[in-house]
Amino acid sequence: MLRLLRRCDGVGLGWTLVLLGMAVVLACSPARGWGQSECLACHADQEMKDAAGHSLAVNGEKFGQSIHGSLSCSDCHADVKTYPHPEKVAKVQCVTCHASQESELKGSVHGDGQEHPCTSCHGDAHAIFTKSDRRSAVYPLNVPTTCGHCHGNNGMAQKHGLPSVYPNYTDSIHGTALNKEGLLVAANCQSCHGSHHILSRKDPQSPTFKANIPNTCGTCHAKINVEFTEGAHGHAIAAGKMKAPVCSDCHTAHAILQPTEAKFRMQSTPICGSCHKDKLSTYHDTFHSQLGLLGGYVETARCWDCHGAHDVLPARNANSPIAPANLVTTCGRCHAGANLKFVQYQPHANARDRKMNPALYYVRLFMNLLLAGVLTFFVIHTILWLFRARMEQVRSKAGDGGDHA
Ligand code: HEC
Ligand code: HEC
Ligand code: HEC
Ligand code: HEC
Ligand code: HEC
Ligand code: HEC
Ligand code: HEC
Ligand code: HEC
Ligand code: HEC
Ligand code: HEC
Ligand code: HEC
Repeated sequence: MLRLLRRCDGVGLGWTLVLLGMAVVLACSPARGWGQSECLACHADQEMKDAAGHSLAVNGEKFGQSIHGSLSCSDCHADVKTYPHPEKVAKVQCVTCHASQESELKGSVHGDGQEHPCTSCHGDAHAIFTKSDRRSAVYPLNVPTTCGHCHGNNGMAQKHGLPSVYPNYTDSIHGTALNKEGLLVAANCQSCHGSHHILSRKDPQSPTFKANIPNTCGTCHAKINVEFTEGAHGHAIAAGKMKAPVCSDCHTAHAILQPTEAKFRMQSTPICGSCHKDKLSTYHDTFHSQLGLLGGYVETARCWDCHGAHDVLPARNANSPIAPANLVTTCGRCHAGANLKFVQYQPHANARDRKMNPALYYVRLFMNLLLAGVLTFFVIHTILWLFRARMEQVRSKAGDGGDHA
């Protein structure tokens, strides 16, 4: 620059400034980048590879149809404008045009930019489509496979201590609705987890944090969410009693079954019972449970047939199906002709509890004493019998010996 100024010595100062201005403008104005076709002249060759064997081919036709089809190559490859290329090409920064997605991703579980560039979910960088296009990796029907590339991979799951959820999801009610029926409104991973700002279930802001799960499922299952919120379990959760169940405790999150399926009905009684242990054991003593245990699956009364599934309420609540005034209706659903006398039968009668069930307690006590008495009698009887038999044997042997001597 100084040399230029010295050479321009003889020329007037005005001219020097004009020349300088032109040089600066030329230097700063971006060189007009090549169009796609010039770059594709080389890169459309499907055999093109770099020294490491990594493909350098770009499918120009697909790129042209993609959402970025109207951009020029150097809009993304900002440092590659003509040929020859710079020696080291910079990584493409999606953030220059998509700042909000980038910042959402930053604070998420996938925030580690090295391992999770945008293309890990959006696929081939040169074939990105809008999310409502069937060809998009984030089209609702394609989301599970996209997330499943990593979350169905046992190695990755083990490395990060995560469950391999994809196979469970595929077999679930939502997975089959999506894959088999193509039901766009069925829940895919994104519906419950979000897309860019995915958080761990331990984060209170996460849609999969325990207390938020009813509302997450409730975006689609609105009526059930209302029933749940008004029931005893919903009340307990709202009061911060995290021991109460939410949707995923009874249905699971990823392996959700059709509730009318026998498999669900068989596993749900133990699930209610895992928290209500005393009620499960008394239920097991009753006819309804014995019937269910007879083998295979029998249409008997399960916990929710008497209590409801989502709006469970204590007996003292007048709206509860187990409130004394409602029992005739509740039992009457299966026992035609049920009356006030019939519903005195106690589904949770605890024969070990004298205060609550005195009659049953004494009957049980009597039966147990009787059993013990009978057993004791027979044990003594058998011992005496054996003793007597032995004595007779000895006596007759002694008699025999006497004869031979
Ligand atoms: C004359 C052929 C030719 C043209 C035209 C051409 N390239 Fe390349 N490009 C190559 C070759 C050869 C390589 C491999 C370089 C290497 O391995 O060092 C390459 C590599 C690249 C890479 C990868 C670099 C890396 O680090 O992996 C990008 C990105 C790229 N080109 C973009 C472009 C863009 C954008 C254009 C248009 C502005 C373009 N190329 C035009 C031949 C070409
Ligand atoms: C929407 C942004 C975008 C546009 C537009 C774009 N690319 Fe790329 N390209 C990428 C990304 C992202 C990569 C992956 C490597 C990286 O992150 O830098 C890439 C990689 C490449 C590579 C390296 C080989 C590979 O697949 O990893 C080549 C060569 C290339 N692009 C050429 C082109 C050409 C030629 C065009 C124009 C026809 C083009 N790109 C347009 C985003 C873009
Ligand atoms: C963990 C997977 C994942 C990653 C990583 C990811 N995306 Fe997305 N992206 C999605 C999903 C899923 C959708 C569809 C959202 C929907 O249907 O509402 C989406 C939608 C989009 C959209 C459409 C507008 C919108 O927000 O719905 C843009 C633009 C986008 N992503 C850009 C990016 C960029 C840029 C990055 C990197 C900073 C990125 N994505 C990283 C999964 C991802
Ligand atoms: C030079 C600016 C630019 C860059 C860099 C860029 N994009 Fe885009 N992108 C756009 C434009 C423009 C659109 C079209 C927006 C529209 O139609 O609403 C778009 C649309 C998208 C969409 C579709 C949005 C939708 O409505 O579903 C996705 C996904 C996307 N870009 C992802 C990426 C990813 C991933 C990268 C990095 C590999 C990237 N973009 C880099 C400009 C860019
Ligand atoms: C119907 C809603 C729903 C759908 C659909 C769903 N998830 Fe989840 N996911 C949850 C809930 C709720 C949790 C947290 C509670 C739990 O693990 O039981 C969770 C937890 C997770 C976890 C973390 C487990 C942990 O222990 O921290 C991962 C990873 C995950 N989901 C990935 C996925 C992927 C991938 C898909 C799609 C194949 C998917 N999820 C589909 C609701 C859903
Ligand atoms: C490129 C691989 C990859 C893809 C694609 C991917 N994930 Fe992940 N995901 C991971 C890894 C790795 C972690 C663990 C991050 C950590 O713990 O540091 C993770 C963590 C998670 C977690 C949090 C688990 C927890 O409790 O800590 C959820 C939820 C999750 N991913 C859901 C999704 C969903 C939904 C999609 C699709 C929209 C998706 N992921 C796509 C690799 C991936
Ligand atoms: C994006 C909307 C959406 C979300 C979110 C969602 N579901 Fe669903 N769910 C559906 C659709 C649609 C069906 C119907 C599928 C079918 O019938 O094939 C369904 C079916 C079900 C069924 C079977 C019921 C029946 O009668 O077929 C159960 C149980 C279920 N979902 C539980 C849940 C739980 C629990 C959550 C939250 C962890 C949840 N869903 C989140 C849309 C959703
Ligand atoms: C305490 C356990 C439990 C909780 C918590 C629970 N469910 Fe259920 N859910 C069940 C049982 C049991 C059934 C079967 C009821 C039947 O067949 O009468 C069921 C049935 C369903 C059905 C099928 C339609 C129906 O009413 O029969 C859907 C959908 C459903 N639940 C979604 C949800 C959602 C969404 C949540 C959270 C807001 C939730 N469930 C919370 C146990 C539960
Ligand atoms: C994850 C543990 C858990 C599971 C599973 C569970 N419950 Fe509960 N249940 C609770 C808690 C906690 C309360 C609230 C007690 C309170 O408010 O102090 C409760 C309350 C109730 C009540 C009201 C009684 C009262 O004392 O308020 C009934 C009835 C009930 N549950 C029945 C069921 C049935 C039926 C199922 C299965 C469909 C079930 N529960 C599954 C934990 C559970
Ligand atoms: C045949 C109907 C029936 C079945 C089946 C049944 N219950 Fe009950 N349950 C009742 C009635 C009636 C009461 C109220 C009287 C009592 O406490 O014995 C009750 C009381 C309860 C209570 C206490 C409610 C309160 O207000 O204190 C809980 C909790 C409970 N049951 C849970 C369960 C669980 C868990 C199961 C399944 C293992 C189950 N029940 C099966 C009818 C039933
Ligand atoms: C979901 C259906 C269903 C509900 C609800 C139900 N039961 Fe049952 N119960 C059965 C079946 C099935 C049997 C066995 C067949 C039979 O004897 O009728 C049975 C048998 C019985 C028996 C022994 C046999 C008999 O008929 O004398 C009694 C007692 C009984 N139930 C009482 C009740 C009471 C009390 C309620 C309400 C708190 C109730 N049940 C609710 C289905 C149900």
